[in-house]
Amino acid sequence: MDVEGLKSRLAEANQEHLLKYWNQLSDSEKSQLYKELNHLDFKEINGFFKTAMEDLASASEKLDDVLEPLPKEVCGRVVSTEEEVLLQYDVDGLTEIGESRVAVLLLAGGQGTRLGVPYPKGMYNVGLPSGKTLYQIQAERLLKLQRMGEAVSGSSCKIPWYIMTSEHTKQSTLDFFKKHNYFGLQEEDVVLFEQSLLPCIGFDGKIILEKPHKVALAPDGNGGLYRALHKSGVLKDMEGRGIKYVHVYCVDNILVKMADPIFIGFCMSKGANCGAKVVEKAFPTEAVGVVCKVEGKYQVVEYSEITLKTAEKRDSTGRLTFNAGNICNHFFTLDFLKFVSDPSQEKQLKHHVAKKKIPYVSEQDSKVTIKPDSPNGIKMEKFVFDVFHFATSFAVWEVIREDEFAPLKNADTADKDTPTTCRRSLLNLHHRYLLAAGAEFVDKDGNLLPHIPSQKGEEEAVFVESEISPLVSYAGEGLEKLVDGRKFTSPVYLNQDYKMEEPEIVEGEW
Ligand code: UD1
Repeated sequence: MDVEGLKSRLAEANQEHLLKYWNQLSDSEKSQLYKELNHLDFKEINGFFKTAMEDLASASEKLDDVLEPLPKEVCGRVVSTEEEVLLQYDVDGLTEIGESRVAVLLLAGGQGTRLGVPYPKGMYNVGLPSGKTLYQIQAERLLKLQRMGEAVSGSSCKIPWYIMTSEHTKQSTLDFFKKHNYFGLQEEDVVLFEQSLLPCIGFDGKIILEKPHKVALAPDGNGGLYRALHKSGVLKDMEGRGIKYVHVYCVDNILVKMADPIFIGFCMSKGANCGAKVVEKAFPTEAVGVVCKVEGKYQVVEYSEITLKTAEKRDSTGRLTFNAGNICNHFFTLDFLKFVSDPSQEKQLKHHVAKKKIPYVSEQDSKVTIKPDSPNGIKMEKFVFDVFHFATSFAVWEVIREDEFAPLKNADTADKDTPTTCRRSLLNLHHRYLLAAGAEFVDKDGNLLPHIPSQKGEEEAVFVESEISPLVSYAGEGLEKLVDGRKFTSPVYLNQDYKMEEPEIVEGEW
């Protein structure tokens, strides 16, 4: 350990306090702290802090005057697209999948603080009849899509799954996949890589110590993706596999259509190198970012960055002018990813600043870590969509919220985006798939249940529980042969795992 060298680097950066407890540390603590600090580029971090604080100072300036709605020619909507055009997108997307030119990339480095579980969000089980976790659902969707791609191309195909983790999530994610035999996927097609961490910094510019031998570190945001792609060799791996298109998405949406062939086909039809899947914003003050243009460049603008007047603006058809709600589902060509991940572009992406309550080591007793009641510093994060402004050709695909977006953000004590809302959204979608395929549902006495769950007076809501394994159907297709004309009692589960040749229908309690 070159402690003297470290000391002088710290002194230069005005961060000497990080070695304040050095003499009290055990040998292993010393080496842990040394390792952590030696890793950090203090000059760079001080630069990030300076710019971040300047941005914070101007954060109250609203973007209203420079905001432009999306040009019609880059947009498409599933609800207003003709059936045969949708079919064409689907075939085009599946053809690329069948030729092994599509990869998916999962952003799973977040700490999931709002959900409040000590393990990665993807390992969460929202209480479906099958008991599947988010990771298992996603793995099975990929397996199914590979089979669908193979049916189109007539030869075997792969959809590599790149998973960005962080120090907090990497080992447990890896252990989980190993324990579950990668849910039937090939181990070499599930590629984990790690994003960087950045120190949390007090308002005075000093890096915060969480413990005498530990810096307070947090992942550098989902936009840390580009730096991680550059450093990890993932881009080369993609290139080696002949990948052309990448679907990037976040871990928490239980309805996510990974590598959605229709979305891919649509973006291809626009010749886009970058695209976003969106849902219509539900109401003007809904807390979602909107995809729009700012000074001629594509961008996602948070609801807090515009005034209510702008948020409420409507076009001649009565729709909100800024209505493209971001659901963190992005399309990129590999060429575009290579371009934006190059340090000359990546360095231009700014850090967004969040004031946070950051635990710190007590001045009085260094064995105690204090959890402050009010913000005492900042976290700096890059955002995955900030590369939109590099897009030379952009595409925005609007999908139906209840079919494609139900995120898990909060614990069940909250009233939205909880395990319960996620579970209900998935069961409701699968119920609709079964009805569309000709199934009927009856109560215990054999009476037909209404298709729309209803609440009559004081009676309990009629709520049908139906779940379909992704291996049976990716998006509601192919169910007629199993269920058309049949009557079921809830709950019903169309089960299939990767070891089963054929699906089985499990009815009633199990
Ligand atoms: C995100 C979007 C928001 C969108 C919402 C929809 C961003 C910056 N914001 O918000 O516009 O309306 O989803 O659900 O994309 N992650 C990392 N590393 C990190 C931080 C996060 O990989 O350092 C991952 C998380 O694991 C998650 C995803 O990024 O899969 C989204 O992060 P989250 O913090 O949940 O974003 P939101 O604030 O919900």
